Amino acid sequence: MMLNAVVFDLDGVITDTAHLHFLAWRAVAQEIDITFDEVFNEQLKGISRMDSLQRILKHGGKAGMFSEEQCLALAARKNALYVQSLASLTQDSLLPGIREVLADIRAAKVKIGLASVSLNAPGILHALGIHQAFDFCADASRIHRSKPDPEIFLAACKGLNVRPEEAIGIEDAAAGVEAINAAGMLSVGIGPGLDHAGLQLHSTQELTWERLTAFWAARAY
Ligand code: BG6
Ligand code: MG
Repeated sequence: MMLNAVVFDLDGVITDTAHLHFLAWRAVAQEIDITFDEVFNEQLKGISRMDSLQRILKHGGKAGMFSEEQCLALAARKNALYVQSLASLTQDSLLPGIREVLADIRAAKVKIGLASVSLNAPGILHALGIHQAFDFCADASRIHRSKPDPEIFLAACKGLNVRPEEAIGIEDAAAGVEAINAAGMLSVGIGPGLDHAGLQLHSTQELTWERLTAFWAARAY
């Protein structure tokens, strides 16, 4: 079987927005007397905005203490802070090696997809100047279940017109790797704590077309 598509997560894989999400949530959480660190933040990676808020409230012992209206206001406040911080993104904000690997995948005539649950994904791709690198971006507003559910990766494969078994997914979040595996794709994990990924890399610098093709060739049937 040929490798027909590579599907990328966005935040923390293509650009370092995972840290900006953390800073914005931390500021909003402080306003309601909840503190959390980067270790807890790992559990928010790949999780939708409203689900992230619920996890933060639970972590702070405040689950169920805010009305739906208050939750929406907190999430809107986080997003406003986050969007403000996105103003710092430029075409130089791609993580190391990403521009090269996107170009190499394209040159090999393998399709490229995006599977990000972020509603800000289209704006971020434009700010990075790489929206044209993708053959299909799954629409986060149509996704009902956050990662680790495979829904968004399956939507990306469908949009690319490939079967999940013909595709590799790339993620920096534990929930994301779980989603790729559940979709029946091969998973690449970037960063620590992703033992469940088929291939684990330390950073995007190691994410080369050579590595991806070697991983594909060595996969278990
Ligand atoms: C994911 C991030 O890509 O998008 C999460 O890993 C984030 O941290 C989620 O909560 C939703 O993002 P947004 O931009 O719609 O709030
Ligand atoms: Mg991510």
